[in-house]
Amino acid sequence: MKDHIRIFIASKGDPVGMARAFRAELPGAEVITDIALIGTDPVPFIVVGKPDPGVIGSVPGLKVVLSLNAGVEHLLNSGEVPADLPIARLVDPAMTMGMSDWVLAVVLSWHRNLALYRADAVWTRREEQLSQDRTVTVLGAGVLGGRVAQLLAAVGFRTRVWSRSGTQVAGATAFSGAEGLVEATTGADVVVNLLPLTPSTRDILAAPLFARMAPGGLVVNAGRGAHVVDGDLIGALGSGQIGAAALDVFRTEPLPETDPLWRHPLILVTPHVAAPTQPGSAIRVMADNIRRYQRGEPLSDLVDRTHGY
Ligand SMILES: NC(=O)c1ccc[n+]([C@@H]2O[C@H](COP(=O)([O-])OP(=O)(O)OC[C@H]3O[C@@H](n4cnc5c(N)ncnc54)[C@H](OP(=O)(O)O)[C@@H]3O)[C@@H](O)[C@H]2O)c1
Repeated sequence: MKDHIRIFIASKGDPVGMARAFRAELPGAEVITDIALIGTDPVPFIVVGKPDPGVIGSVPGLKVVLSLNAGVEHLLNSGEVPADLPIARLVDPAMTMGMSDWVLAVVLSWHRNLALYRADAVWTRREEQLSQDRTVTVLGAGVLGGRVAQLLAAVGFRTRVWSRSGTQVAGATAFSGAEGLVEATTGADVVVNLLPLTPSTRDILAAPLFARMAPGGLVVNAGRGAHVVDGDLIGALGSGQIGAAALDVFRTEPLPETDPLWRHPLILVTPHVAAPTQPGSAIRVMADNIRRYQRGEPLSDLVDRTHGY
């Protein structure tokens, strides 16, 4: 055993419930939920959502930051996590299932005109297409994008994936790099964004990308709000170049009541629910990583500071 297991939970969610779950997973572990009770003995593990400034730095002997989120841009941008302190992001099969469910629901609902029939409420048939006649491009071929692309391909959509390194996904055509982005999105009926937010991906869902898509297509964003240039999206919806959008994430969350995205008839807004952290399975995943650390094995799902995700 490397260290006595002491874990500090810096989450505004349900730290007491999480502590109970950690103690069940790691009998003998000391799990602290109140910063005032940390003391001076080393606390190798901190569990964080969006911690208040100064919290990470105030924990003595920290060895690993365990994120309750899959996306960690807020931690990297905060400057609160020293460069040599490893961050493990959350990779949880329950989260992947949640994301796949949400994206499939949104894409299939648009593909089969379900919202339009509800609005029509008359016996008028719209032009219907088969999945094999539509092209869907998934930006990001990682844990979430890879699974989503695999499922969309299995449904029957002509599926493309775009990633930094050209990661292959079963049933999909893989693209990478700036030229690959152009190829992957040209003529796409649907673009689904599942990229992490980094300086290279910020503002990626903007006018040039919308202009390359097939007219009247669907834009789906479940990555981060800052991936979308909202004004460009509203403009492309206004011109008909884009037919509809489904947005789960926003530059400001909660999305302010006055934001025009709420009232836009062609935009579906969901309140960052595509793949919420499932505390039960998330804690099992984190406990597994703590056990790895204790055994001296490499940690899973470490953030690569060079690439920023
Ligand atoms: N809405 C929600 O509820 C929710 C929930 C969870 C996560 N998310 C978001 O989903 C994001 C993705 O999560 P994940 O677990 O799938 O991440 P991941 O496994 O790290 O996958 C990221 C993918 O993006 C690609 N990528 C990164 N930077 C790129 C760039 N500059 N150009 C092209 N491709 C790039 C990576 O390429 P490589 O394959 O080459 O590495 C990889 O395929 C998270 O960062 C978070 O923002 C949202």
